[in-house]
Amino acid sequence: MATSAVRGSILSFTKDPFFNAPEDSHTFIEDGLIITQDGHIKSVGPYTPQAAEGLTVDHYKDAIICPGFIDSHIHYPQSQMIGAYGEQLLEWLNTYTFVAEQDFASRKHAGKVAKIFLQELLRCGTTTAAVYCTVHVESVEAFFEHSSALNTRMIAGKVLMDRNAPAPLLDTAERGYEESRALIEQWHGRGRQLYAVTPRFAPTSTPEQLDAAARLWHEHPGTYLQTHLSENLGELAWVKELFPDCDRYLDVYKKFNLVGPRSIYGHCIHIDEPDFADFNRLNATMGHCPTSNFFLGSGCFKLFEAKKAARPVKVALGTDVGGGTSFSILETLNEAYKAAQMNQTRLNAFQGFYLATRGGAEALDLGDKIGSIEPGYEADFIVLDLKATPMMEFRMDYAKTLAEKLFVFMTIGDDRSVRATYVAGRKMEF
Ligand code: GUN
Ligand code: ZN
Repeated sequence: MATSAVRGSILSFTKDPFFNAPEDSHTFIEDGLIITQDGHIKSVGPYTPQAAEGLTVDHYKDAIICPGFIDSHIHYPQSQMIGAYGEQLLEWLNTYTFVAEQDFASRKHAGKVAKIFLQELLRCGTTTAAVYCTVHVESVEAFFEHSSALNTRMIAGKVLMDRNAPAPLLDTAERGYEESRALIEQWHGRGRQLYAVTPRFAPTSTPEQLDAAARLWHEHPGTYLQTHLSENLGELAWVKELFPDCDRYLDVYKKFNLVGPRSIYGHCIHIDEPDFADFNRLNATMGHCPTSNFFLGSGCFKLFEAKKAARPVKVALGTDVGGGTSFSILETLNEAYKAAQMNQTRLNAFQGFYLATRGGAEALDLGDKIGSIEPGYEADFIVLDLKATPMMEFRMDYAKTLAEKLFVFMTIGDDRSVRATYVAGRKMEF
């Protein structure tokens, strides 16, 4: 049996700090010990020499161990065009995204990018992500193969597009259905891999394809549905033209039965109370992607409206690379804080770290498997370095409380803050 032991300060969440006092929402063990066995957490508690007896212990000083980060929205084929200049959503898609995605007809190219992408996620401390591939089956196979080899828990799927994109990126309602079905059969639930039915967004699918996407999703219980919603005003106007009988953008997805548990909607910027109420009632998830929303000039997500106690909406963080400008969830939290500020609200460090870990897991319906450091959970956790750089070390010296230290990670932290990443109990190389 594969056993490992890790010692250090351990942070984990027990409740949602948006609705509970911060001190009641988490556990923090100043000098703790995690013992893992066969990919799961066997025990966690204060370090004692007896508890560690007979084990080789990785001891991390000047660090905080927390659950691996969770990214609810990212496009692996866009790794090669992250940070592309000058456009907002619809022009950006045509100018950069749809060009890059055509390269993924090549299995070799897809494999190369999937490998770099997964390595980068682990380097940034992200252990689970909901990932868009491209329209090509090859892109999905390459991704799941690499994720399986690493034993990472990933959600991914083939993009469905049958209109309004270049011909090499189009499938048809029928072909998209058949290819997705075969991929679900091959990959969903295989090891730690999970499948997401992935209609890109309403404008690139015909009504027939949206219908086929709903059938795929409902015929395969446990699969996810991921797409984009209300990111950009030009997009909204276009959706209105394409679906004139739908009053609101969300009505399109509702009409086609695409909103429910395990559906993940990226962005959700230009929405209001009826949409929040629908998300709450239908138990769907919003992906908050602040680096992308600023980079593409889309707007500010209304996080504290989503997280209203009277009708809470499930929210997870997303990087949205390559619309997003960083793979790092710490950098994403920095921008989430600024987005909240722009709305005259404050995202505190416990709320931020909750979204990045347990909150993200719950929003992805994985709250009983990942996102927490407690016995029985899958052993995905990371080691955040309080002294990653001379400046960070200097700044941390002036951060006295746990809340202050976490907030410094959340504002000036990045990939350099991640000293180690454990996946299913195994320390990953990066
Ligand atoms: N809307 C439809 N496709 C995309 C995409 O690839 N990125 C972003 N940010 N928004 C989208
Ligand atoms: Zn996206």
